[in-house]
Amino acid sequence: MQRVPLVLGNWKMNGSVQANEALLQGLLGSLSPQADAAIKQGDLQAGVAVPAPYLFQAATRLRSSGLLWGAQDCSNEIAGAFTGEISADMLKDFDCQFALVGHSERRERAAESSDLVGRKLGQLLNNGLMPVVCVGEPLSEREQGSAEDFVVEQVRAATKGLDEQQLAALVIAYEPIWAIGTGRSASSSDAQAMHATIRHELSQQSQSAAQAVRILYGGSVKAATAAELFAQPDIDGALVGGASLDATEFANIIQSACPASQSLH
Ligand code: 13P
Repeated sequence: MQRVPLVLGNWKMNGSVQANEALLQGLLGSLSPQADAAIKQGDLQAGVAVPAPYLFQAATRLRSSGLLWGAQDCSNEIAGAFTGEISADMLKDFDCQFALVGHSERRERAAESSDLVGRKLGQLLNNGLMPVVCVGEPLSEREQGSAEDFVVEQVRAATKGLDEQQLAALVIAYEPIWAIGTGRSASSSDAQAMHATIRHELSQQSQSAAQAVRILYGGSVKAATAAELFAQPDIDGALVGGASLDATEFANIIQSACPASQSLH
């Protein structure tokens, strides 16, 4: 099945109004005509997950570009007395198309459980937003040989109770924790093996949804390594941290995902 490649930048807690202006303009100016055309034709998707205070700025700058903008988290609650939380409905108000949920930095720092991630994901689906569900194992699990079990359990817990249509609307980002911000990417073969495992797990719930779900790789993705990752049959794009803060580097990663610049999946 032909899935539309997707490359998302995760700015994390970086940026300022002024710096974002330069980064967004730089990104728009650095996209190749080929990538720009592929994005406008719907053959390629790319976008940025920005800190919530900058959603309006991202929406303003990106509205006519074809690039997507989204948030890095979303509340599991609908509305009310939840100080500091941001609802899916609010994200929709800023015309976000997606939000990340379950990033390992939130699972670790904010002690988010897979059950909570599943409820956040439900809020996004209820509001027509595309959830990008992050999963990935710590180094200890990889070293013990239990990485696949660990990730499968995260996928299972987050997708519990979803129907076929909801499942097909998900994006999953496999981000091994030991590869995030370390400069040590998973090898393309290790990443492919995990992506295939994730797709197999999804197929237990629905064969057709499993074929539709895009599975992104994240963890020290750079322009130099992106093409090899994207050439793998189950790697449908990337979730890019540090390298998405450099307009040229990020544009080059997007270029690598351009359908014409890689063998067809
Ligand atoms: P790096 O690309 O900086 O390793 O970050 C990956 C990540 O966590 C994206 O969500």
